[in-house]
Amino acid sequence: MTDGRPAIDLRSDTVTRPSPGMRAAIAAAEVGDDVLGDDPTVDRLQRRTANLLGQEAAVFVPSGSMANQIALLLHCRPGDEVIVGEGAHMAFHEAGAASAIAGVQLEMVGAGQHGMFRGVDIAAAVKPESRLAPPTRLVCVENTHNRGGGNVWSRDDLTDVVNTCRGRGLALHLDGARLMNAAVASGSPPRELAAGFDTVAFAFSKGLGAPVGSVIAGRAADMDRAARLRKMLGGGMRQSGILAAAALWALDHNVDRIKDDHDNARFLAGRLAEIPGVRVDLARVATNIVMADLAPALPPAAELVARLHAHGVRVLAFGPRRIRFVTHLDVDRAACEEAADRIAIVLSGTL
Ligand SMILES: Cc1ncc(COP(=O)(O)O)c(C=O)c1O
Repeated sequence: MTDGRPAIDLRSDTVTRPSPGMRAAIAAAEVGDDVLGDDPTVDRLQRRTANLLGQEAAVFVPSGSMANQIALLLHCRPGDEVIVGEGAHMAFHEAGAASAIAGVQLEMVGAGQHGMFRGVDIAAAVKPESRLAPPTRLVCVENTHNRGGGNVWSRDDLTDVVNTCRGRGLALHLDGARLMNAAVASGSPPRELAAGFDTVAFAFSKGLGAPVGSVIAGRAADMDRAARLRKMLGGGMRQSGILAAAALWALDHNVDRIKDDHDNARFLAGRLAEIPGVRVDLARVATNIVMADLAPALPPAAELVARLHAHGVRVLAFGPRRIRFVTHLDVDRAACEEAADRIAIVLSGTL
């Protein structure tokens, strides 16, 4: 709250609050004990999501970070190398878990490609077999790419990466925390975007607006192991049907409206680009994330974030001179217009 006005929260699509309909679904959920394998609502969500992603089975986990950790533990052994794109969530935002828990080394490829890469980048990065080099085991694709600015992988690039991994015997994991955004933006169903991947992580707590939860999906045998790994990581949940009910409600009610978030992001990007000293690459605004770069005449991102907060707009710094804005179901077009007005006043006042 600022000057009596509610803050407009554009920090992330994770800040959404469960709607009355979702809360009603939570309250009505049939539950069991999911660690013992008999929560019917979790079962329903797992089956439905496996089907959505074109995979044999899925396991409901507390977070996207845990889904990614389970993928690393499924595919790799300590000392193995994992190829990721520049700015990968696993490398920047998972508290060092890839090295601390799975014990793997992350090799970033595709410099300057906003988190994307091609088969040639993989081929160049794979270590030759030797007693000295870490064995390259796994490639991770992030779609949409968070630090890349919410960009969506093209079908051609996905096919190229899938074929390269097949040809070289590398496992392939999809960090699809925002795969539904990619599906809506590209018009390709999630199962098409997930085709050829060994495992897929998919989140309900981002653009879909559920309070908690992701799944990891893949082959049935791998998902049996995934359930064990989830327990090992402390992610076994008991009456988690109340969370799965929110995720199921989100799949029923919050998919089609994701397009509004993308339209609002484009609107916001256009308004930001009009502010002197702010650079936004409008051609690269593909989903619900907008990255704005600040000219040297403007204060650093951290200072502007604090000033914006004081004026009722919450955002995150994504670098010393970069601010990230994320649209979601709790900010409609009017809120985006109001945010754009407040941002313009604050930033113009600093020049
Ligand atoms: C691309 C991507 N992967 C994984 C995650 C991790 O999700 P969680 O916050 O549920 O651990 C996020 C979270 O923002 C993300 O953006």
